[in-house]
Order: sequence, then structure tokens, then C-alpha cells
Amino acid sequence: MEFEINMESKKIYKDGVAYDLHANEGYELVKNLWEYTNWANRYSYTYSWLGRPTIQLPDDMIRIQELVFQLKPSIIIETGIAHGGSLIFYASLCELIGNGRIIGVDIDIREHNKIAIEKHPLSNRILMFEGSSIDSEIVSKVTQHVGADDTVLIILDSNHTKDHVLKELMSYSPLVSKNSYIIVADGIMQNLIGAPGSKNDWNWNNPQEAVREFLKNNNNFIIENPKPYFNESEIRSFPTYWPNGWLKRVM
Ligand SMILES: C[S@@+](CC[C@H](N)C(=O)[O-])C[C@H]1O[C@@H](n2cnc3c(N)ncnc32)[C@H](O)[C@@H]1O
Repeated sequence: MEFEINMESKKIYKDGVAYDLHANEGYELVKNLWEYTNWANRYSYTYSWLGRPTIQLPDDMIRIQELVFQLKPSIIIETGIAHGGSLIFYASLCELIGNGRIIGVDIDIREHNKIAIEKHPLSNRILMFEGSSIDSEIVSKVTQHVGADDTVLIILDSNHTKDHVLKELMSYSPLVSKNSYIIVADGIMQNLIGAPGSKNDWNWNNPQEAVREFLKNNNNFIIENPKPYFNESEIRSFPTYWPNGWLKRVM
């Protein structure tokens, strides 16, 4: 694929075909390039939330904030804690809404991260479990904290191989409340082959493949990419690392 941008004519050329930068088609091409190059340059490794590093695209954080405000979950479960920035982010939304607890799971909660999360002013909303997210003991510990009346939202952001994500989907999807979501992070991997740190098998060994496999045998969920709460533009697709990763429980 070859791209060329001409700021005199305001066109982007893809393989010689011109697209208008002032129209959706041009925007879409630049958006796709932006997702690729920001991943390649570790753009998502440059943000923090209330003092803790997050490893997220800010666009995804704003979109999930829109969902959290509307859904008002009583429990948010996230697999993959890292520095804890996303746990603190969800905890801060719950604090502002006045309701909600966060459960985080990570195979390796580094001591300095654990201490910083536990010392954080929002730590009273957060519970952490160390272990693999697909270990049956961990799944059962998390499950014990979910009650029949809870509204549960889940984000899967741990190991992004197809097999692991599929096992996470099977383990945690029964906990998701009707009309809530299980969100699968980093489905963008399939578009990133050739980027630094990418692997050649990402064309099939990725979270979107896990979602496809999961949905073959599960009618309780549908893919429903986020709809912006506010949109006075013609834009219909948005920068994200989580394409086709929002699975809504419909039954
Ligand atoms: C992308 S980071 C999570 C980023 C975090 N959610 C944030 O937004 O800042 C992935 C994390 O998954 C954890 N992880 C890897 N394999 C795992 C597994 N099998 N079970 C649970 N956590 C795992 C890693 O230790 C790492 O901290």
C-alpha cells in the first residue's frame, strides 16, 4: 500500500486513488494510519490517570466513560492491571457517580504497583487478585464477589492471544449483566503486523479471532461498537485499539 498526502489539494492518495481529506473517506484513511503509527511509537504509554500510568488509547477511555456513566455498573472487572491506571480510572468514575466497585486481576502485580494502588485515595473501591485470569481459582474468587443484583461490566486486557482471550470470554461472560458488556481490548493487533513488537501470527492469533470463535457458540452476546453519546460530526468510526471488542449481553 502506498500513501501520499497533498496539502495543496487536501487529498490523500492511496495506491494512486485520491480521497478528500475534508470528507469521511479521507478521515478514515488518516485514522487507520494514526492507529498504526501511534501503536508503533508506544503512544498509549504516555498517559496516566490521577497519578497512575495507564496503557490505553485515550479515545477508548473516553468512550468507556460514556458507557460507565450511562450503565452505572455496580462492579467493573478488569483483567490486566499493569500499573493500575485503568483500575484507578474506573474507580474515579464510580466515585463521581457515587456507586461501584472495581475488581482487578493480574498474573504479576508488581510490588511497587500494588503499594501505589493500595495507597491511592480511591483504593477503597478496588480489590485485586493475583494469578492467571483463566485459573479456575481466580475465576471463582472473582465470581464470589458478584451478587445476583449487581450490574457487571468486564474489560479483558491481559494476555491477548486468541486462546487466552477465548478462555477469558468463556470464564467471565456468564457474570455480565443483561444490557451490559464484556469488552475485549487490543483487537487492533490484527492490523499491526510489521510494527515494532508485533508477531507474524497476529493475523490469526488475536483478540478479534477469539471474539469470532466465542460468538459462534454463544447467542447471548452481539458485537456493538460504541455509539458516541454526542456527535455533531459526520464521523462514524473512531480511533480505537478495541475494534469489534464491545460485546453486549442481549439475553
Ligand atoms: C496491557 S497490560 C494492562 C494494562 C492496564 N489495563 C492499563 O490500562 O493500564 C497487560 C497486563 O496483563 C497481565 N497479564 C498477562 N498475562 C496474564 C494472565 N494470564 N492473567 C492475568 N493477567 C495477565 C500482565 O502482567 C500485564 O500487567
